[in-house]
Amino acid sequence: MRIAAIIVAAGRGQRTGSDTPKQLRLLGEKPVFRWSVDAFQNHSEVDQCVLVIPAGQTGRYRDLVAPSVTLVEGGDTRSASVRAGLRACNIADDGIVLIHDAARPGLKAKTITSLVTALDTADASAPALPVADALKRKYDTALSTIDRTDLYRVQTPQAFRFNAIKEALGDDQNLVDDLAAIEAANGRVTLIVGDETLAKITYPEDHARLERLLMPASPAPRFGTGYDVHALEPGDGVTLCGVKISHTQSLVGHSDADVAWHALTDAILGAAALGDIGDHFPPSDPQWKGAPSDMFLKHAVDIANAAGWALTSCDLTLICEAPKIKPHREAMRQRTAEVTGLPISAISVKATTTEGLGFTGRKEGIAAQASAVLAPLA
Ligand code: CTP
Ligand code: MG
Repeated sequence: MRIAAIIVAAGRGQRTGSDTPKQLRLLGEKPVFRWSVDAFQNHSEVDQCVLVIPAGQTGRYRDLVAPSVTLVEGGDTRSASVRAGLRACNIADDGIVLIHDAARPGLKAKTITSLVTALDTADASAPALPVADALKRKYDTALSTIDRTDLYRVQTPQAFRFNAIKEALGDDQNLVDDLAAIEAANGRVTLIVGDETLAKITYPEDHARLERLLMPASPAPRFGTGYDVHALEPGDGVTLCGVKISHTQSLVGHSDADVAWHALTDAILGAAALGDIGDHFPPSDPQWKGAPSDMFLKHAVDIANAAGWALTSCDLTLICEAPKIKPHREAMRQRTAEVTGLPISAISVKATTTEGLGFTGRKEGIAAQASAVLAPLA
């Protein structure tokens, strides 16, 4: 075996002030330490993954990682935990070991690759970022400015030749990081470009910041529009938003010709980018003849849900000279709420005439336009 990764997770996380140790707190659907374990396990060059855990907690951690992960109990200091990890590595003396803080969940594969490559010409490598803020030393009430040139914030993982780090990390010292041992031995160190997502969880606010950096942002709401027209013929009434309205004409159509719900169905399908009503209920198919349009509307809501979207509001405009819509508006909102599952307050139904102009003005047909807003399902 050539490359081992040691993840130190044996600390108590006291500075976070949280009852749950920081490495065990959930970030997304897995505990913080698992982010690093997974990053190493999924990297093709890493042969062994050693997780250093608090004493007496093997049972608890064993259930949280794959059987291939080596578990070992840590010590009282970080360096003691690293030494325990080194003792559990099964790699050749000239192999490579990467040592990483479990409290840094934002490890990317390309960082691992760059660290390993950098060891071709160095004894150690580590990710580092330049210092951007002004640095000051405080003496009582006075300050002095520290020159930032050549100053870096060094992160983990830090990569070493196995024999070099074993030798450099003496038996009793407690170092701020493992690189310090190589520095003390005057080793050659290559710094690769670090990553803000590699920041360590140390203080109470850090967990939420890492969560924002690492969890995908939920997609923005989606908006769709629909439009439909049905012709009018002499008859006894029309169905609009599932409400039967007495009238001297009826709407012509292959289903119940509910022009309002057809437009709304298309608006929902449009917002979810799932085609249109004709794709899902072809007019050529006899089974939809006379079908109640609540079936179409319900189907659009259901398939949008299945695609991860929830209908959050809709707005319908009916364009006709007659019948008068206003007396039926509340019933139409109510029926639409029943079918879509929306609260009635999120459903708007309005109407307009076209001042006698065009086919709607001549009472040859009714047009409807609709808009729908979908939000990502939680
Ligand atoms: N660590 C360890 N063994 C120790 C101390 C620390 O394995 N005896 C690990 C921590 O679990 C952490 C990493 O070293 O992943 C970096 O240390 P730090 O941020 O100081 O973590 P904690 O020691 O847990 O936190 P605190 O110092 O606030 O108690
Ligand atoms: Mg500590």
